[in-house]
Amino acid sequence: MNIEKAYDQWSSQYDTNKNKTRDLDKLVTVKCLEKLKFDSVLELGCGTGKNTGWLQTKASNILAVDFSEEMLSIAKKKVLHENVNFQKADITKKWDWTSEKFDLVTCNLILEHIEDLQFVYDQAFSKLKHGGHFFISELHPFKQYLGTKARFESDAGKIELRTFTHHVSEFTETGKKAGFQLTELREYFDEDQNKPPRILSLLFKKP
Ligand SMILES: C[S@@+](CC[C@H](N)C(=O)[O-])C[C@H]1O[C@@H](n2cnc3c(N)ncnc32)[C@H](O)[C@@H]1O
Repeated sequence: MNIEKAYDQWSSQYDTNKNKTRDLDKLVTVKCLEKLKFDSVLELGCGTGKNTGWLQTKASNILAVDFSEEMLSIAKKKVLHENVNFQKADITKKWDWTSEKFDLVTCNLILEHIEDLQFVYDQAFSKLKHGGHFFISELHPFKQYLGTKARFESDAGKIELRTFTHHVSEFTETGKKAGFQLTELREYFDEDQNKPPRILSLLFKKP
């Protein structure tokens, strides 16, 4: 099953399934971004709008994109604020769906589905104002090495989505190549800090 169709199918359970990565990402996002000032945001892979609702309290203009019609449809019902626009788009294709420049481009739990990170970083760079930030919060590759990946239960059994592993050095080096400065890299754990971290977050700045 392709990734888009899998998320269409996952959408009705996405907000309610047990999902430690989803829940931790929400906390990480607030922790990393509450100290920043931003007025316009491009959110990549917004899903059911888990982070969109919080982002709209900080910014006056949000463009939230996703390629799953069903994930978007839930987000649209949940996040009704007029400063948020939702758009169906595939971020692996040229980002010609907006000509705007943003203060913040954010992506949460989406890059594990993207093979070519450089393309996404380059497009994000081109859509940011100077001084703007690119925020990434992803399943930590250490978790991927141990076999953790996006999956859900369906009537037909367990569905595992197609994923790509990006090493920490790839996340940072790709940023450098795109022209970004890395301003923060953090790792977030479940309760037991002796186990591998669950989330990797990076904050880049466009000089
Ligand atoms: C794990 S969900 C994360 C949703 C949300 N960001 C969150 O943190 O809850 C991944 C989302 O990325 C979207 N996605 C995956 N690949 C995509 C692509 N190439 N273009 C647009 N959206 C994509 C999926 O449809 C899904 O909604």
